[in-house]
Amino acid sequence: MFSKLLFKIDKNSQGNQQKQDKNKVEILQTKLFKPIFAQKESKIKEQNQKDQNRGWVLIINIDIQQQLILENLNQLMSQLASIGIDFGSQRSVIAAALRGGVKILDNEGTHRETQNVIGFTAEERFIGEQGALQQKSNFKNSIGFFNRFLGISGKQQFREEETKWLTVPTQINESGKTLFEVSYLGQKTSFTPEQLTGTMLNKLKNIIQLNDINIQSSNVCISVPPYYTESERKALIDACKISEIPLERLLNETTAIAINYGLFRKTDLDAEKPRNVAFVDLGHSKFSAFVGSFYKEKASVLAQVCERNLGARDIDWVLFEKFATQFEKQTGGLSVRKNIKGRLRLLEAIEKARKVLSANSEAQINVEYLVEDEDFNTLIKREEFEQLAQPFLKQIQIKLDLLYNQVQNLKLQLHSVEIIGGATRIPAVQRLIEKIFKIEQVSRTLNASESISRGCAMMAAMRSPNFRVTEYKIDDCNYYPIKVGWLYEQKLNSLDQSKGLLNCFPERQCKILYDQNNPIPSIKSFALMKTQPIEITLFYDPVPQGFDPILKQIYVPPIIAKHKEHSTKVKILLNQNGLINLEEVLFQEEYMEEIKVPIEKAKIKIPQKQEECSQQKPDIQIQEGIKGEGEPQYEIKQKKKITQNQINCETTCLYSLTQKEIDQFFQQEIEMLNIDNQVHETQFKKNQLEAYIYAWRENLNGKYAENARQELKDQIYKELDLQYEWLYGDGQKTTKREYTDRYDKLVQLCSPIATIAEEYRQLPDVIQQVLEDSIIYENFLNLQEQQFAHITKEEINLVANELTKFKQWCNNALDLLSKADKTIRFTISIQQINTKYAELQQKCQPIITKQKPEPIKEEKMVDQAQQEQQNINQNKMETE
Ligand SMILES: Nc1ncnc2c1ncn2[C@@H]1O[C@H](COP(=O)(O)OP(=O)(O)OP(=O)(O)O)[C@@H](O)[C@H]1O
Ligand SMILES: [Mg+2]
Repeated sequence: MFSKLLFKIDKNSQGNQQKQDKNKVEILQTKLFKPIFAQKESKIKEQNQKDQNRGWVLIINIDIQQQLILENLNQLMSQLASIGIDFGSQRSVIAAALRGGVKILDNEGTHRETQNVIGFTAEERFIGEQGALQQKSNFKNSIGFFNRFLGISGKQQFREEETKWLTVPTQINESGKTLFEVSYLGQKTSFTPEQLTGTMLNKLKNIIQLNDINIQSSNVCISVPPYYTESERKALIDACKISEIPLERLLNETTAIAINYGLFRKTDLDAEKPRNVAFVDLGHSKFSAFVGSFYKEKASVLAQVCERNLGARDIDWVLFEKFATQFEKQTGGLSVRKNIKGRLRLLEAIEKARKVLSANSEAQINVEYLVEDEDFNTLIKREEFEQLAQPFLKQIQIKLDLLYNQVQNLKLQLHSVEIIGGATRIPAVQRLIEKIFKIEQVSRTLNASESISRGCAMMAAMRSPNFRVTEYKIDDCNYYPIKVGWLYEQKLNSLDQSKGLLNCFPERQCKILYDQNNPIPSIKSFALMKTQPIEITLFYDPVPQGFDPILKQIYVPPIIAKHKEHSTKVKILLNQNGLINLEEVLFQEEYMEEIKVPIEKAKIKIPQKQEECSQQKPDIQIQEGIKGEGEPQYEIKQKKKITQNQINCETTCLYSLTQKEIDQFFQQEIEMLNIDNQVHETQFKKNQLEAYIYAWRENLNGKYAENARQELKDQIYKELDLQYEWLYGDGQKTTKREYTDRYDKLVQLCSPIATIAEEYRQLPDVIQQVLEDSIIYENFLNLQEQQFAHITKEEINLVANELTKFKQWCNNALDLLSKADKTIRFTISIQQINTKYAELQQKCQPIITKQKPEPIKEEKMVDQAQQEQQNINQNKMETE
C-alpha cells in the first residue's frame, strides 16, 4: 500500500512564505526521506517534473510502514521559535520570535487573545476560548482568575477579596493554598492554582503547536507583574514544570514593555543622551507604571509603582453594585448578588458597556431573564460612568502622583507617556494621565494588548542560540527591598517576632542587601566574623502586605578556625527570575607565614674567608644554598596567606512544591489530557459518521445519481436510515470504536460508487490531456521537410502511423465513454491510458529527438585553405 505525500509550492507567492515552504521541502528531502528517496529517485523525478508544472511537488510515494516516519513529520516541519507569553489575569497573548520577525499567534478560534478560563464537566475540560464560551452555562465548574491565587496563602486578606470574582467554592488546604472545588467526571474534585495554571499553560502550548512551532525545541519567557513576591514567582515556575513549558525565564512586565519599546526604536535613540519615557499599564485587575531611560544600546527602569488590586474589573464592580440595587428595587427584592449566573451575566454586560463608552457617549445594558423571568434594561451615559469611576480614578492618581514625584526628584525630563493594557482605552483614564504628567496627549505607539508578549519573545530570542538578535541590554529590576540579618548561636524562631523581623537582629547584624530597582540578576556578598553557628535570614523589609517576610534561611555550621584572622563570606544571588539563591559560603582565613626567600647575590654579606672562597667558586656557593656550613643564603620573610574553604550549609526551601508533588500533578494533567483527547476523538468520529450519512443521502440522488443501480441505492438508503436512527437514539453517546466501526461499514458500502464516479469524472480529462500532449508529434510531422532531412522516411511514417493509431484509440475510448453504463467501472482504466501514451512516447520520442549530424564547418575550411596559400607564398619569398 502506498500513500502519496504532496507539498504545494505557490509559484506566485513571494517572500518568506515561499521560502519557508521550500525549506520544508528541503528538510524532508535531506533529513527524512533521503534513504527512501535514493531508492525511488528515478521514478519520482519524472513524476516530479509533471507535478511541479501544476504547482505541486511530489516528494515521495511511501510505503505504509514508512509512514511511521511521518509521525515525526509535524515536529520536523515545525519551526523553532522563541516564545513570549503575556499571562494576564483575564487573557493570555502569545508572541513568537521567528526568523521573519515577531508574530502574535492565533488560537484555534483565530483570535490573538486566549481567555484564561477552565471549565470542567462530567466528560471533559474546556480550556481557554472554549472555557470562556461555556462559562455562563457551566459557571459552577468554571474557573477564571486562578493565576491571581498563585503563591497566595490562605491568611492573606486580599484572598478573601479575590474570591468574590469566582463562581466556584474554595477551600484552604493544610499548606495554606487555595483549592478550587468543581465537579469533574461526576466527582467533586479540587485543584490548586499551580495545577490550573499548568493546565492553562498546556493549552497555550497546544496553541503554539497549532501554529507549526516546535515547542520542545523552543524557549519561553513568561511575564509576571513586577510586584510578584518570591512565593508567587515560585508557584508560576512550578506550574511551568507541571505543563513542561521550556521556561527560559520569568520577565517582569515592565521590563518586557521596555524591551519592546527600546529594541524597535534603536535607530531613533541616542547612544549618549537618554530618552526618558513613562509607561502606564492598566489591565483587567492590576495596575503598574514606570519610567524607563532609553539609549541606543541599553535601557533601564528608573522608577516604578504597582498595585495588584486595581483594574478595569473594579470599576465594573462599582457599576454592578449600583445596578444590582436598581434591579432589586425594580423587581421588588430579586437579588442578583446572590445569583451567581445572574452576577456573571450582568458583569459581562457591564464590561461590554464600558468598552462601548470608550468610544460613545452612552451605552445600553440589556440582560434578558437576569433573575427568574425578570429582564434588566438600562442606559448609562459616559458622565455617569466617569462619576461612578471616581474612587477608582483616585487610586490611579495616588499611584501616578508617587511616580511623578520620583520623576521630579530624579530631575528627569520626560519624552512621552506611553499607555498599554486594555483599560487605558478608557478616555477618563487617559485624561487623568495627561493631567498628572502635564502633557497634551498620551502616546499610543505601543500595541496596548500585545507589547508585553512581544517584549518577552524578544528576551527569549536574545537568550536563544537559535536566533541572532541585535543585543539590547536591559536589566530587569527588583521591586521589594531585601534585607539580610544574622544571628550567632541563636534561632530566629526562638525570638519574639511580634515587632517585626528587623527588631530580632542586633543593630550591626542586619543590612539591606538588594534595594528596590536593584538590577537583576545580581550577586552580592557579605562577610561575617565569628565561627559560631550562624543563622542567616533573608527577608523583605518593608514586608509586602499579607506575605511572609522570610525568603530564605541559611544555617552555617560552627567552624574551627586555625588562625585568628578569619571571616565567613556569604554570596547571595538574586537570579533572573527574581528569586533569592545561596550562591556559596566560603570560610576565609588569613595568616602570616614565614617563607625563605633566596638572598640576592649582590646583597649577600659574606665573611672574608668565605669571600675568598666565593671569589674562587661564586656560582657554586649561591646554588648550594643552605648546604654549606656558615651563613645561610636565604632570608626569612613574613608573607600573608589566604585560604578559602567552601562550607556546606543547610538552606530552607520555602514556597516551592516538592518534586513528588510536581510529578503527581504532572501525571494527573497527562491523565486529564488523555481523557480530553479521547472525548475529542470520539466526538470527531461521531461527527464524521453523521456528516457521512447526510452527504450520502444527498449524493445518491445528486452527484452520484448515475453511478449506482436502483437496488444498490435502496440498500444504501436503508442502511443510512438505520445508522441515522441509531445515531440519534442509542448512539447519542457511545464509544469511539462503535462510531468508527459504523462509519467504516458505510464507507465500505458507498466508496466503490465514489471511486467509479471519480474515475468517470477524471477519464475525459486524462484522455484530453494525453491527446494534447501528443500534439508534439503532430507538430513534428508538420515541420518543413528540410528540418528533418536527417530522419528517414520510414521513421517519419512510423511516427505518423503510431500517432494515427493512438488518436484513433483515444477517440474510440471517448466514444465508448459517452455511451458507458456509469454504474460499473469503465473498461479502460486511467492507468491504461497513461500506458498507451507511454508506448507512443517510447516509439516516437527517440525519432523526434534524433540529433542532426554536425554541419560541415565551411568557414574553417576556407581559413585553412587561406593559411596554406599564405605558407606557400612565404616559402616562395624566402627562397627568392
Ligand atoms: N475599548 C476598551 N474600553 C475599555 N476597556 C477596555 C477596552 N478594551 C479592553 N478593555 C478592558 O481591558 C481589560 C483587559 O486588559 P488587559 O488585556 O490588559 O488585561 P490582562 O492583561 O488580562 O489583565 P491584567 O494585566 O490586569 O492581569 C478588560 O477589562 C477589558 O474589558
Ligand atoms: Mg496585563
